[in-house]
Amino acid sequence: MSARVLFSALFVAVLAYCTQKAFMHRLAQSFSFPQDDLFGRLAQQAMSKMNAPGMYDALARLGLKDGETLLEICSGPGLGVEEALRYEGVTVLSVDLSEDMVRRASERNAAAVSQGRARLYAADVADLSLVPSASIDKVFHMNCIYFWRDLDAGLSELLRVLKPGAPMLAAVKFRDIAKLGSASQPFFLHTNETRVLEAMRRAGFVEVHSKDVRLGTSCTGVNYRSGCLVDERMHYTAVHAAKPRP
Ligand SMILES: C[S@@+](CC[C@H](N)C(=O)[O-])C[C@H]1O[C@@H](n2cnc3c(N)ncnc32)[C@H](O)[C@@H]1O
Repeated sequence: MSARVLFSALFVAVLAYCTQKAFMHRLAQSFSFPQDDLFGRLAQQAMSKMNAPGMYDALARLGLKDGETLLEICSGPGLGVEEALRYEGVTVLSVDLSEDMVRRASERNAAAVSQGRARLYAADVADLSLVPSASIDKVFHMNCIYFWRDLDAGLSELLRVLKPGAPMLAAVKFRDIAKLGSASQPFFLHTNETRVLEAMRRAGFVEVHSKDVRLGTSCTGVNYRSGCLVDERMHYTAVHAAKPRP
């Protein structure tokens, strides 16, 4: 093989490696802050496919009841809001940093928004001043906590808005994120399960514990009848915590 062929092959291999790295880096950025662009749309497609079964399962675990208000943080394209609204008499408040995602989620849940059953805001979890203290029955977030620039402030805010004794369920996929390797940096900030659970206890949450959830072969939750296939990338860890009672 001539030196020129060898050099060309090496050049193509390096170019392919760098392109793949750049692609993964840009996609990871879009997971942390999706916008209405090509990568944002790719991230939304991945979220809808990979997160929906876990989201339905996690919301079923929260046992939403008639008359309750759920706060979802990092609502992204609004699948969680849509599923929570399938629980009769439940009102949903949702918050996401990305205005594009709030617009997308509002379109998806337009009927409930116009009826006042869903209220969707662009905000940072670290500042929930729009939510009164002790007004929320349940908090849910999925694939969300890794991105919070101020983890302690976000958790303090959630503790403040929850009613005494009320639960928070965080659905996380730390093992999948580890597979992203260096592409996850600098967007995924909190990827260590032990430290995240410690931060919840430090913020004042009680009954903090986690459980690996392996889903069955089809969706659970109120939405299960719509049917969806489940594979191992959709399994998740459910982190439970609660606000202490006085
Ligand atoms: C990977 S997406 C997950 C969306 C949805 N929960 C799901 O599982 O499909 C993460 C979302 O978190 C939002 N986000 C990131 N940091 C946030 C913060 N500090 N406060 C509120 N939302 C945040 C992003 O805008 C993005 O929509």
